[in-house]
Amino acid sequence: MKPSEQQNTAKTTKSSDTARTAERAADLQARKRSADFKTSKKSNKYFARAQKILPGGVNSPVRAFRAVHSTPFFVKKGEGDRIFDVDGNVYTDYVMSWGPLLLGHARKEIVRAVKSAARDGLTFGAPTGRETLLAEEIRRACPHMEMVRLVNSGTEATMSAIRLARGFTGRDKILKFAGCYHGHSDGLLVRAGSGCLTGARPDSLGVPKGYAENTLIAQYNDAENVQKLFAANRGEIACVIVEPVAANMGVVLPRDNFLQTLRKICDKEGALLIFDEVITGFRLAYGGAAQVFGVRPDLAAYGKIVGGGMPLAAYGGRADILSMVAPLGGVYQAGTLSGNPIATAAGLVCLKILRKEKTEIYPAVEESAAMLERAYREAGVPVNRIGSILTPFFAEKAPENYTEVLACDTEKFSLYFREMLRRRQFVAPSQFEAMFVSNAHTREHIEETCEAIALSCTAAKARQE
Ligand SMILES: Cc1ncc(COP(=O)(O)O)c(C=O)c1O
Repeated sequence: MKPSEQQNTAKTTKSSDTARTAERAADLQARKRSADFKTSKKSNKYFARAQKILPGGVNSPVRAFRAVHSTPFFVKKGEGDRIFDVDGNVYTDYVMSWGPLLLGHARKEIVRAVKSAARDGLTFGAPTGRETLLAEEIRRACPHMEMVRLVNSGTEATMSAIRLARGFTGRDKILKFAGCYHGHSDGLLVRAGSGCLTGARPDSLGVPKGYAENTLIAQYNDAENVQKLFAANRGEIACVIVEPVAANMGVVLPRDNFLQTLRKICDKEGALLIFDEVITGFRLAYGGAAQVFGVRPDLAAYGKIVGGGMPLAAYGGRADILSMVAPLGGVYQAGTLSGNPIATAAGLVCLKILRKEKTEIYPAVEESAAMLERAYREAGVPVNRIGSILTPFFAEKAPENYTEVLACDTEKFSLYFREMLRRRQFVAPSQFEAMFVSNAHTREHIEETCEAIALSCTAAKARQE
């Protein structure tokens, strides 16, 4: 390098250093102002108005903060790993829209793709090329997705996969696990009754009893339980649907080759294995849980990350099974906005980034999540973590199934949540959810969160004891 070039580089480095320092100082000041900010005046006003027209003031129940005896802040915008509320408070975000934002808020390439797609029209109800490209991109990461159908939400994806499994096998019953969430379609809103072997009851009013009767419930991580249910319902079970890593009772990991055993049982019993990868897909690894655990499902459902932040999901799997979906076969499933051009544009860019940068992105998010895990452990709070999802449990030990999850101290959790929020850390407002780390989380913000974890856990524990 020539001396003049060297000088130039030094100058550029120096000026970018100065710019970074100034940026950091401004950021710090903004956070200080935000930390000083004592009111949620506007959020409270918005919430009061919302409650008069939206049930509970929200469009999805957990957003109402009821489980933590609080009321929600209203969001103005998101940027990277931060979320800004209408009162000017700034939070480091670990909810991340419940999973889609592995690349952070408002990732510029995705925003650009959405803007550009929107200019060409918002929806057509006729095929577009990007739908095929996105389906191919999904198959590239998940080879078991031999054929793919795009839909609008995770609920639609799992519901359709189950209809397909029933159509393919000619059987009515399905088996799911207590504490696994697969969206809000009728037959899936069921968990265990008083005993895991004794049948099921709906979790929601409005679900006909007959639906619940066709949904058998097993204990997660209990293969023997699954075997007994198959023995009691021989030739009647169409499929086993499972979150390969449960993330809707807090994060609970499969143990003792649970997924491999499910694969064997399904093969033996002529039932299909459905992986609900709505959270784990493209999150645990580029190839999701199927890649991490080396188990090939017959069918799988994806959502959240596949839409890059837009409403898009997918189900798919073995070509012989997917060939039964209309218009090829007799299993009907359709959607006015399915494969929407804006959503496919966002999803496509997101998955391309993950493919091209997977060797950097996945280790980076894992490292950040591991720092958070350490902070919880040091504060005496057990944690379950895999990759970039984790849950701290206010319990004696980290749970391995739904029964153990229910033993958590939710009051302590809600104190901890409010302590975290006070320190401008937005974690899930429920003990039974995951914390999502993105590639946009900076080291500096993770370190701040670790400090907040230490203080908040201590405060939560102290106030109760
Ligand atoms: C594992 C899993 N499956 C399905 C769903 C339903 O997805 P959606 O909310 O997009 O309908 C969710 C939602 O959180 C989920 O976590």
